[in-house]
Amino acid sequence: MIKFENQQFHLSNKFFSYVMDIAKEKHLMHRYWGKPIKFFHDSIPLQKIDRGFSGQLATFPNERTFSLDVLPQEYPVQGHTDFRIPAYRVELENGTNISELNYKAYKILDSKPALKNLPASFGESQTLEIELEDLNKNFAVKLYYTVFEDSPVLIRSAKFINISDKAIKIRHASSASIDFNDNDFDIINLYGGHAAERTIQRHKLQRGIFEISSARGASSHQQSPFVALVRPETTEFTGEVYAASFIYSGSFAIKVEAEQFGTTRLVVGLNPETFSWKLEPGEDFQTPEVALNFSAEGLNGLSQGFHNFFQKHLIRSKFKNDVRPILINNWEATYFDFDENKLLALADCAKDLGLELLVLDDGWFGKRNDDNSSLGDWFLNTKKIPHGLQFLVDEVHKRGLKFGIWVEPEMTNEDSELFRAHPDWILHAPNYKTSFGRHQLILDFSRAEVVDYITDAMRKVFSSAPIDYVKVDMNRHMTEAFSPTLPADRQFETQHRYMLGLYGMWEKLTAEFPNILFENCSGGGGRFDAGFLYYMPQTWTSDNSDAVCRLSIQAGTGLAFPIVTQGAHVSVTPNHQVGRMTTFQMRNFVAYAGTYGFELDITKFTDTEKSEVRDYVKLYKEIRSTIQFGKFTRLLTAAYEGNEYAWQFEDDNRLIVMYFKILQKAAAPVRILKLAGLDANKNYTLKKYLPPKKLSVDGGKQIVNFEEKTFGGDELMNAGIAIEKIDTDFAAYLWVFEK
Ligand code: GLA
Repeated sequence: MIKFENQQFHLSNKFFSYVMDIAKEKHLMHRYWGKPIKFFHDSIPLQKIDRGFSGQLATFPNERTFSLDVLPQEYPVQGHTDFRIPAYRVELENGTNISELNYKAYKILDSKPALKNLPASFGESQTLEIELEDLNKNFAVKLYYTVFEDSPVLIRSAKFINISDKAIKIRHASSASIDFNDNDFDIINLYGGHAAERTIQRHKLQRGIFEISSARGASSHQQSPFVALVRPETTEFTGEVYAASFIYSGSFAIKVEAEQFGTTRLVVGLNPETFSWKLEPGEDFQTPEVALNFSAEGLNGLSQGFHNFFQKHLIRSKFKNDVRPILINNWEATYFDFDENKLLALADCAKDLGLELLVLDDGWFGKRNDDNSSLGDWFLNTKKIPHGLQFLVDEVHKRGLKFGIWVEPEMTNEDSELFRAHPDWILHAPNYKTSFGRHQLILDFSRAEVVDYITDAMRKVFSSAPIDYVKVDMNRHMTEAFSPTLPADRQFETQHRYMLGLYGMWEKLTAEFPNILFENCSGGGGRFDAGFLYYMPQTWTSDNSDAVCRLSIQAGTGLAFPIVTQGAHVSVTPNHQVGRMTTFQMRNFVAYAGTYGFELDITKFTDTEKSEVRDYVKLYKEIRSTIQFGKFTRLLTAAYEGNEYAWQFEDDNRLIVMYFKILQKAAAPVRILKLAGLDANKNYTLKKYLPPKKLSVDGGKQIVNFEEKTFGGDELMNAGIAIEKIDTDFAAYLWVFEK
């Protein structure tokens, strides 16, 4: 998979080739990334052109056709003849930022190195380590490239090593930089806000610099650490896609520069606005990894590449290949207003409906009856749960359900015992009052004693009763992100040190409690990123549980992340976030397309509604393995907040199709769905078909007349299936075929 010949590195597998070479025995150049090629014999030689205002290094002043400003590089620096966005910036003790990384050596490693307190991909692979050294021997950089035989994903990261006898300061450290020879791209990114995560945006790459970033100390709801550069003609099924998903949960920056000569540079890394790092002599600094993904089969190819990769080579939980329990979460059912009796009533009802897990959300600890107090006081509120957690868990277990609990370890409130005892344990800047978010303050996870204290508090909660599941939340972003324990010249390390502290805690706790299924959450999907997947195999996708909003949120999330990682719950109407009435069927089927659960007061269901829920739950149990682990395909263009969505899930035995239409229109054309990627020679028998139900008959038992019938894969792909006309908004359809 990794070859070095004639000064050229060629990384390849059946999905891609990635080629670099060494120019003038010193400069590591980027030569090719795309469909696999057997050899790279320089059919696209480096363009050696004398360009005005693009200068030469002093080592070859007369070679006016060799300028770093013009050439494609692997890890470029700014201000030493290249003026484009840099991959890194190092400040020397004398205050200058100039460096020149020259090629020194390479190594091929047959096992993938793990990273300390950082998520790291794993599995059968080869890793190339290229060592570059600064001309003046102040520091070295090792670039890492990991190729997996079974994946289109290439993993990159960089390590800085101070080889001088003076301290240096890293001002900017990217995990990867890639130069493309042209700029004929659209950019796809996932933007949003709280309760509106990961909306797909596609727009033409324009001359200039486009930035997707977060300075919030979390990967954020606002911009996902993901980007795709696609050809203008790229569709769901065809065309080239070059994508990056940053394996990190803190502040980040992804920049794309379409520069003067019509080339493009993509840089992915820590956000230089919120980061710097002092390296003493002999010390090193490792960047997070970034997953680069090439697809020649359009956006579905991209998604399938990432889905398989994350499942196989990033998520570690022992539950990663298990179908996930159908849960009832009490948050939208009760908010803070619950007690033991209410929880047991939910458990009774959940058992009757066939649900499998009761999750006790926020409000079970300290004196927390609203969101103004008690974060940090991780002991039971015995007013609400008088017989203790062990009793509650036992009672839930007796009903045949698993038990889950909510925590938010990184936070405290002014009104808490923790804060009263340790007021200096929060992120803050001297002489400025600390800002609030949801009345919360952020614990300074860059400090070892804070991390140790909270790790221990969590350990006590998790071992206080036989807890099966933990939902981990984080409900505000960082302000005044400084730490009193760090010296002045290290203050800008706080955010990243915080992340290392946080990852370190989850490294320990997930190892100590392997039998707990962890769910990641940050006000919904505010930290839905590849970094957290390493520790927790699923994430609460969004605080928005409205089925219509969820269509676009889940479509955007599915672009990069596996279906089984996305928490999706049925909630009440009118919906609590947007006030919308949608059909019960739509709410159920949208929640089917993830780890299905309920988040409403199920004890209030009428008998007819209960019988309907039993049917939905029964059906989901039959087909969930296909939905959660099958190959996922978007049949219609990833509907950029569109009116229609069609999703296909397929495994060796079964094929499931879902179609959603939000609003009906008069004289609408008949929608034909052409299924995709099936085996043309196999037969598919339609076993179940559920057409939409109207809003007005919500709650009624559905009687569906359809014929069990067998179709060839070729017919389903080429002729397609026609959507039966139904006069209702919020229409949701489901087909189950068996192979
Ligand atoms: C966040 C989560 C919700 C819920 C609340 C509790 O907003 O995303 O699901 O747990 O916190 O305060």
